[in-house]
Amino acid sequence: MSSDSAAPNPVAGQSSSEPIISLKHVNHWFGSGEERKHALKDISLDIYPGQIIICTGPSGSGKTTLLTMLGGLRSCQDGSLRILGQELFGASKEQLAQLRLNVGFIFQAHNLMMFLNARRNVRLSLELHDKYYGQDMDKIATSMLEKVGLGERVDYFPANLSGGQRQRVAIARALVSRPKILLGDEPTAALDKESGRTVINLMKEMAEKEKTTIIMVTHDNKILDVADRIILVEEGELASSEKEAAFVERMRAT
Ligand SMILES: Nc1ncnc2c1ncn2[C@@H]1O[C@H](COP(=O)(O)OP(=O)(O)O)[C@@H](O)[C@H]1O
Ligand SMILES: [Mg+2]
Repeated sequence: MSSDSAAPNPVAGQSSSEPIISLKHVNHWFGSGEERKHALKDISLDIYPGQIIICTGPSGSGKTTLLTMLGGLRSCQDGSLRILGQELFGASKEQLAQLRLNVGFIFQAHNLMMFLNARRNVRLSLELHDKYYGQDMDKIATSMLEKVGLGERVDYFPANLSGGQRQRVAIARALVSRPKILLGDEPTAALDKESGRTVINLMKEMAEKEKTTIIMVTHDNKILDVADRIILVEEGELASSEKEAAFVERMRAT
């Protein structure tokens, strides 16, 4: 029951709530034999509802592996992974699929369907959820696109949108079904400074309005200020809280 004092930066007010995501001694390996790669090493981490977590660290350190694990995109091989109160060690494919309905993803590349217009791309996300059947999904998708500032572009195909606009469609698609958890893997990497900032502000606004928990991998030190906590991944391990604090200080200074 007691969390092993692994959370170094408690956020005000979080103590009353249970973590929405809790990892205890999670390990993950890729491949087998001599090629076997120990990608995540003994990770323990608690994330609380409504927190914005930024995950950073060198290339190849395990950030994407960790992020996909936090969203139930991979099965937990070793240790305990609890998301939304459900233990995922030993979970079935069906359980993982059910869990994923609560999770929105924004990837570096937008992954939009090029043959569908913006509205249909966003609508696709609703079609995965039984609860939207019988509702006006076009209307819901359109209103989400309006929220991200694309009300005038709902009929546009991705090819006719700018990089920043496409990423906003991807955000609308990730948020339209009101996920409890939103994951972003370098969501601003392909964007210029201004549209990057717009995208981040949007995510933050949605987080506040909907109490969404956001976990984002990024190297962008311009957006550190939105984070409640910054975690540093190095060679598959979480850096100590001292190292984490020193890193944050250095980043803020630059
Ligand atoms: N599907 C995979 N198969 C084998 N090795 C992988 C796979 N995905 C990632 N890895 C390895 O695991 C390590 C962590 O990768 P990744 O999580 O993608 O790092 P990051 O996102 O921090 O750049 C790297 O050494 C990478 O080569
Ligand atoms: Mg990565």
